[in-house]
Amino acid sequence: MSGHVGFESLPDQLVNRSVQQGFCFNILCVGETGIGKSTLIDTLFNTNFEDHESSHFYPHVKLKAQTYELQESNVRLKLTIVNTVGFGDQINKEESYQPVVDYIDAQFEAYLQEELKIKRSLFNYHDSRIHVCLYFISPTGHSLKTLDLLTMKSLDSKVNIIPVIAKADAVSKTELQKFKIKLMSELVSNGVQIYQFPTDDETIAKINASMNGHLPFAVVGSMDEVKVGNKMVKARQYPWGVVQVENENHCDFVKLREMLICTNMEDLREQTHTRHYELYRRCKLEEMGFTDVGPENKPLSLQETYEAKRHEFYGERQRKEEEMKQMFVQRVKEKEAILKEAERELQAKFEHLKRVHQEERMKLEEKRRLLEEEIIAFSKKKATSEIYQNQSFMASGSNLKRDKDRKNSNFM
Ligand code: GTP
Ligand code: MG
Repeated sequence: MSGHVGFESLPDQLVNRSVQQGFCFNILCVGETGIGKSTLIDTLFNTNFEDHESSHFYPHVKLKAQTYELQESNVRLKLTIVNTVGFGDQINKEESYQPVVDYIDAQFEAYLQEELKIKRSLFNYHDSRIHVCLYFISPTGHSLKTLDLLTMKSLDSKVNIIPVIAKADAVSKTELQKFKIKLMSELVSNGVQIYQFPTDDETIAKINASMNGHLPFAVVGSMDEVKVGNKMVKARQYPWGVVQVENENHCDFVKLREMLICTNMEDLREQTHTRHYELYRRCKLEEMGFTDVGPENKPLSLQETYEAKRHEFYGERQRKEEEMKQMFVQRVKEKEAILKEAERELQAKFEHLKRVHQEERMKLEEKRRLLEEEIIAFSKKKATSEIYQNQSFMASGSNLKRDKDRKNSNFM
């Protein structure tokens, strides 16, 4: 090219636009109650966020998001801190990590819904997708807990995980090295993918590669200032000495702050969008039936997929309707058969009763006839006996008269 046209200023234009818009960064802190999450976040951003301590007695894990507007020089940062309240206090391990997984998915889903709208407002949309998960490991000096492995395993395809050894002042220097090696080997053997600081940009490749070797960072948090020499420094003071938060001989706090905030914040945001969100979006759209290729591996446009889906839907609806109709007819037939059977049974019962009734009646008629015959016979007998009685009475009457006459003649 011969003359200067000016598109070399494009990066400056981009920077100006970004600075004007401001940035947003969302951190998820996963770790058991009281492990030092809030103190570390306060120390990282040198701000008292006033996050109250949580109880160990919540029945469920709750995710609590708080958003703050921060400014450094002319750069505005919308920082969201999401805390896992009650994490690790559940008896069932799944109850501890599932709400975290669901929360991350819900933020992806909200973004996807915004993207799919006809009238999108992604420009001023508050992106709540989690850019980094600081996973707080207990300073046991031994190994990871089952809950740590289960949680990290279920999160690693959804979010950039940076594991940190919390309250690292509780582990001695020699123990710490062995602990770090043990943790890393456990993560590798369980197939847990943690975030690797990128080494493709040569300006930061060297530092990032060396920092990857220091993972997981052993951190100490404190907002207390202690006088060391003639300087006030952030530290934790103990009866036997002072742990300086920003002293690299004491802990990895500075390494974490450098990697998280100064060097790789933009990469974390980018990885969230291009890797984790992309995966969520792909799975979700595939689940909904969308695909990029047709049956013979031919490219398929969204319109064609939509038409095919609609066709499939109508076919399915018709099939369902037909199925329901047949089911209805079948049910009616079954009901009819049951009713007919009941009717038949009733009729048979009626016939039987009628027959029994008739038999009873005939028996009664027979008894009545016999009784009447008996009555007639009895009446006849009675009449005959009455005649005899009369005759004998009359006979006895004439005998008496004859006796009387005889007596009377004797007296005379
Ligand atoms: P919840 O929000 O209630 O779950 O607690 P948290 O994880 O936010 O812990 P928080 O920062 O409130 O710290 C709990 C206690 O641990 C406080 O007494 C802190 O002073 C102490 N603490 C925090 N960071 C460290 C650390 O690096 N080392 C040591 N020894 N103690 C720490
Ligand atoms: Mg807290």
